[in-house]
Amino acid sequence: MIQPDIKGSVVRNSNPDGCHQYLGQQWQILNGKPAGKRYNNVLVLGCSSGFGLASRLATLRNGAQTSIGVCFERPASESHSGSAGWHLDQAFHTLAEQQNHRAVTFNADAFLEQTKQQVIEQIKAFGKKFDLVIYSLAAGVKLDDQGNKIRSSILPTTDGLKGLQVDLENDRFFEMELPAANAQQVADTVSIMGGEDWQSWLQALRTADVLSDDCTSYNYSYLGSELNAPVYREGSLGAAKEHMHQTAEQLRSQGFNASVVVCKALVTKASLFIPLMAPYVMALKAELNARNQEENVFDQMARLFAGGAEQEGDLLRLDNLELAADVQAGIKARIEQMSAEQFDSIDYAGVKQELLAMHGFGLEG
Ligand code: NAD
Ligand code: NA
Repeated sequence: MIQPDIKGSVVRNSNPDGCHQYLGQQWQILNGKPAGKRYNNVLVLGCSSGFGLASRLATLRNGAQTSIGVCFERPASESHSGSAGWHLDQAFHTLAEQQNHRAVTFNADAFLEQTKQQVIEQIKAFGKKFDLVIYSLAAGVKLDDQGNKIRSSILPTTDGLKGLQVDLENDRFFEMELPAANAQQVADTVSIMGGEDWQSWLQALRTADVLSDDCTSYNYSYLGSELNAPVYREGSLGAAKEHMHQTAEQLRSQGFNASVVVCKALVTKASLFIPLMAPYVMALKAELNARNQEENVFDQMARLFAGGAEQEGDLLRLDNLELAADVQAGIKARIEQMSAEQFDSIDYAGVKQELLAMHGFGLEG
């Protein structure tokens, strides 16, 4: 019997069988929806969790023949159950085998040159070219060219921002004040979460001649609203997203069919980890649930591949329901009702249950 090991807002372990069950459930739901656009040979950078995993599953659903994934996960060992992403990736392979889909996953650092070479050799060994490249990394560290560790920080760029942060371990919220990111922290965050590595991946794949002529590439973004702008859009992560959007433009001018997909905010390990975002994502979920409009990450990616994103300029938008004026007003009211002692305006238990389910806990049976 494996019990969840929660520290702060992070679930640190997983239940392997539960992860298989969770992904199996998502697969069943996906198969109840109409199929979307078919890509044949897919590369997913960040394939084991969140938007990347959901993209890979949606392309499997739509009839892809092969996929190569890259992720950075902790395997199971004698003393640890392994990360959820490790088991969700295994679960993907189980489903892929049933579909006669050839899948290879590299558990490797996607920021390293040698990982690009492994992927290139593998797709050549398949005798294929990619017609879809998904870039869905969410990382906290990378090594710079000199081998030094740089870290991303998710901070505002103005001082003194206050708000609630969640403590899932003790089922409470607490008031928190965030410092402003300094210029170096912003630059490091842009280096990790901006467009640089997306661009270098696409260029390396093109140089190796492993992209089909009509290859599409997606990178996932978030814009949000004035309710979370101080901590997101105007903060260090927003600067990285801005850089990534500019990179998309550059890539298109170099002949790549590269698009930014603006997704909705979700309850994930990543979003709950962002200081001051937790109340927003929880209020958003409560508000969309009340309207029967809630989408999880698998719903979002099914919609993307079914052509359900709204084209706005160069952006593909999946955040239309979140940003509707009445939904934003509802979120604002729910956040205003919240305090460290009082959080009935959100479905706290439902949020925690959803996060635990993604780690294979609390599922039926
Ligand atoms: P996630 O944490 O669920 O997944 C991140 C993936 O990256 C995992 O597969 C992980 O193993 C992999 N990874 C991390 N570091 C790596 C490394 N060094 N080498 C190889 N793989 C590595 O994240 P997510 O929430 O799916 O976020 C993916 C993208 O979507 C991000 O760009 C994020 O900003 C964006 N996004 C997220 C949300 C949200 O609410 N979570 C909303 C909109 C957009
Ligand atoms: Na991902």
